[in-house]
Amino acid sequence: MKRSAFAAVSTIALISASAVVAEPQAEVLHWWTSGGEAKSVAVLQQEFADNGGTWTDMPVAGGGGDAAMTALRARVLSGNAPTAVQLKGPAIQEWYEEGVLADISSVAEAEGWADVLPASIAGHMKCDGSWCAAPVNVHRVDWIWANADVLESNGIAMPTTWDEFNAAAEKLAAAGVIPLAHGGQAWQDATVFEAVALGILGAEGFHKAFVELDEATLTSDAMVAVFDQMRTMRGFVDANFSGRDWNLATAMVMNGEAAFQIMGDWAKGEFMAAGKVPGEDFLCASTPGDGFLYNVDSFAMFEVDGEDKKAGQELLAELIVGPSFQEVFNLNKGSIPARTDVSLDAFDSCALLSAADMQASSENGSLLPSYAHGMALRGAQSGAITDVVTAHFNSDMSSADAVAQLAQAVANSY
Ligand code: BGC
Repeated sequence: MKRSAFAAVSTIALISASAVVAEPQAEVLHWWTSGGEAKSVAVLQQEFADNGGTWTDMPVAGGGGDAAMTALRARVLSGNAPTAVQLKGPAIQEWYEEGVLADISSVAEAEGWADVLPASIAGHMKCDGSWCAAPVNVHRVDWIWANADVLESNGIAMPTTWDEFNAAAEKLAAAGVIPLAHGGQAWQDATVFEAVALGILGAEGFHKAFVELDEATLTSDAMVAVFDQMRTMRGFVDANFSGRDWNLATAMVMNGEAAFQIMGDWAKGEFMAAGKVPGEDFLCASTPGDGFLYNVDSFAMFEVDGEDKKAGQELLAELIVGPSFQEVFNLNKGSIPARTDVSLDAFDSCALLSAADMQASSENGSLLPSYAHGMALRGAQSGAITDVVTAHFNSDMSSADAVAQLAQAVANSY
């Protein structure tokens, strides 16, 4: 009797001891599967393991994250949400409204996030005043990448206007080089489109069109000019562009098959992972025009049962915003840290340009959320715009028809 009573007590003691020291577990859904992306997420996996965590990887291939978001919806609908999810922009608040996100305010407060994150970034991470996501980085979307040798041997400088870009592209095409490496996937079409739109509409026009969804701007002559430029650019991509992954387009610039790519600075992560050196092998410049389109990656934690999973969420959130992770991850990823107190000494010239331009644009009002990467609008609205952009790019639709469809699609999306 005595013996079994003792055994029962010690079992309870053991159970409660293991509850106190729950081993952090996390199943992490993300879409970082290209060379540079995989190298970057490996940094987080390693830090998580070094801190006693067990990581279950749930990568869903597909640039821009459309496939990952479809997988997420299926998991949540089946009542089996992943522990942590790469999620960003207004989609965070959309999931919060469904009542499925965990509150990570205790970590944010203990770690003093409010003191080290710019207000513009912190705003995206909050739901009804509490912290519901952890920011990883700041990617810039409006970049143009080029093969340095190809430009030099064709006597071409990085273009600073869209006319210069078009003239350079004509010259390259005549020399037998593919001017623009592009992957014909809707999100890539949208990426190029928003860079062109920023250049042609200007920062104020971009804000009116893609943040305010102002009908007059969506149907303006300037928007017609944006679609005209998209039509011109359609002539600069090779015949096999349909469906190509973005990192394969980056590889075309790396190997000199193509001269330029318009893509966010995750493309730099690919160049770096391949051992290419900025300023020597490849060049970076902001796309023609003023302003800065930001795209902040972040992770949201979903409501899950189990102390081990909750411990995993807390550890992940703490590590993600921690200074060492923010440095090492972003060196690999091509982005810059979300934290303002991380030294940029180890970063390259493209990253320094990004940081300087971000600062300047936040001072002059031209720091803008990327619509193509889910920072500016809710899914229904950004999806409606992208459908028109990609339909135009992949057909002979006129620019006038495109703007009419754009306004209609936006009006129907509410
Ligand atoms: C994400 C990046 C990612 C890129 C390509 C973007 O939307 O913010 O982190 O590298 O898509 O997959």
